[in-house]
Amino acid sequence: MEKKELLYEGKAKKVFTTKDQDVLIVSYKDDATAFNGLKKGTIVGKGAINNRMTNYIFKKLEEKGVPTHLIEELNDRETAVKKVEIVPLEVIVRNFSAGSFAKKMGMEEGVKFSRPTLEFSYKNDDLGDPFINQYYALALDLATEEEIEAITKYAFLVNEVMQEYFASLNIELIDFKIEFGRYHGKIILADEVSPDTCRLWDKDTHEKLDKDRFRRDLGNVEDAYQEVFKRLGIES
Ligand code: TMP
Repeated sequence: MEKKELLYEGKAKKVFTTKDQDVLIVSYKDDATAFNGLKKGTIVGKGAINNRMTNYIFKKLEEKGVPTHLIEELNDRETAVKKVEIVPLEVIVRNFSAGSFAKKMGMEEGVKFSRPTLEFSYKNDDLGDPFINQYYALALDLATEEEIEAITKYAFLVNEVMQEYFASLNIELIDFKIEFGRYHGKIILADEVSPDTCRLWDKDTHEKLDKDRFRRDLGNVEDAYQEVFKRLGIES
């Protein structure tokens, strides 16, 4: 599988076309941004970790009945994926208070919820990805009712599978953001799951092992990504 031309460059990934119109190659960068691109930096080794971690977890999710865009890992940083039309929703599941939820609700971080929450943001950088609900999404034709239903079902299933899996690594899955795409009329999981897009805390020490270390200048950013990768035990 070979890259043809650069289709799109995002904040953390480049996407290339291939000679197969149904297949794209994603190339993960070490670039990191926060606050809608206001803060910029590099997390050395992040691209390879996020690529390999995403693929590893996507395989587990497939086994549990969540369809994903994964085709094949090509090398450390690059993966062949199904070309989807991204549904312009950031789908966020939370198990504990943290981040924007904690701020909005005037709560400290790390309070466990009685049950997980689900929320949507409209994927639009110019607007700063505003919080919306499913009625906005339907009114603006961002997704159909059937699609929202599938997304909701898959999002909670992804949470169950990942929560259990991270628990086995002594990691608490605090919250995460996922994105879905349309592929031949069906909703499938796309984008990534990584320390960029999940909040992962050590279960015992509550040490943050995710991008909050970069967002909040907590130091040891690379170490945190490496630590998660090490616990995953992915063979090289
Ligand atoms: P939040 O608490 O800032 O709303 O973030 C919720 C989750 O979504 C957290 O795990 C980090 C992730 N996230 C992204 O993946 N991309 C983003 O642009 C933002 C703001 C959050």
